[in-house]
Amino acid sequence: SDVVSFYGDHQAGIATPAQERMVFASFDVTTTARADLVELLKSWTEAGAHLVKGSPVGAVAGHPMAPPVDTGEAEGLAAANLTLTVGFGPSLFDRRFGLEQRRPAALRELPALPGDELDPDRSGGDLCVQACADDAQVAFHAVRNLLRLGRGSVVMRWCQLGFGRTSTTSRSQSTPRNLMGFKDGTNNIRAEDTADLSGFVWVGQGSEPAWMRGGTYLVARRIRMLIESWDRDRLEDQEAVFGRQKVGGGPLTGTNEHDKVDLAAKGPDGMPVIATNAHIRLAAPSENGGRKILRRGYSFTDGMDPLTGQLDAGLFFVSFQNDPETFVRLQRRLGASDALNEYIKHVGSAVFACPPGVRPGGWWGQGLF
Ligand code: HEM
Repeated sequence: SDVVSFYGDHQAGIATPAQERMVFASFDVTTTARADLVELLKSWTEAGAHLVKGSPVGAVAGHPMAPPVDTGEAEGLAAANLTLTVGFGPSLFDRRFGLEQRRPAALRELPALPGDELDPDRSGGDLCVQACADDAQVAFHAVRNLLRLGRGSVVMRWCQLGFGRTSTTSRSQSTPRNLMGFKDGTNNIRAEDTADLSGFVWVGQGSEPAWMRGGTYLVARRIRMLIESWDRDRLEDQEAVFGRQKVGGGPLTGTNEHDKVDLAAKGPDGMPVIATNAHIRLAAPSENGGRKILRRGYSFTDGMDPLTGQLDAGLFFVSFQNDPETFVRLQRRLGASDALNEYIKHVGSAVFACPPGVRPGGWWGQGLF
């Protein structure tokens, strides 16, 4: 079946096997009435439950004198494993809605991080919707119709299309490649790793605030790749940057993709085989107090950068963790020393609290209000 259940303890689109495409939208709330915000979330929930089944949000061919309720471009398309994941940004928890006291302590704007070159127009937001599906038009249709339903209450702040998954979140999946040509998602938390999901991804039953239990925090980073200079780098150096082989994906201390990474191994010259500034060394849980994140990013391109004539392309990095601080710590380290920094630039950033899953009859974020 290509329908992912809309209901559950956790929102879909997190531990769900990563679909092929993504449309990620960030919104600003324009109404100041709390009741309108609640109405919006209720209407999004109702629409979401239809959309993920491959159904329209209303009639396409309805009254001839009225605009079609559903915009129609997904008519005849399959459900394509569509998932919709909703999150609340730190800026939602302000005086407008009387939510100041309800803000999770963990939910704050991310601090400035080394190497940040953030564009405010591609950062932040009061609300987000992550739509993932195996068909880009299905994901686009979902976001477009939620935006339409939200007219008068929300405006879109920024939107990112991801054309190919760069992670594996289930053992049933093979590892895809990012735009640098490397397998990405080899060492990731997977749906089958239930202990890691409860230890590192889902907000635990003993945690505060209670309305976030079963939820998680989403960090999004639009990471531009300096593709032209990467493409001129020699293979040996590309492999040293990650600490892995380009084609096979195995660690430089092994052969096959899933061979154990040996960070202690030294070469004949006495130097570490996986360099001290290699991406997989600096990011490894063993080097970060055992902490893990679930990565669920997508490759993007927005065509050519008119200023430079270079491709505006890279990785729309998305990670889920039960404390955004885990990402912050990791990125502080990577941003300071990662060999990859020569070839990337973080240009967009956002953090959202994703409430737990919806139950039939309930709505997104119900526990918050
Ligand atoms: C591993 C690429 C940014 C965290 C990897 C791997 C690749 C990769 C190829 C090895 C395969 C794998 O285990 O998935 C990239 C690229 C990035 C990027 C191209 C930017 C454009 C980041 C960022 C973070 C991160 C911003 C977190 C702050 C990790 C982690 C691992 C990893 C935790 C697994 C390390 C291990 O346990 O072996 N990345 N990455 N990456 N990356 Fe990244």
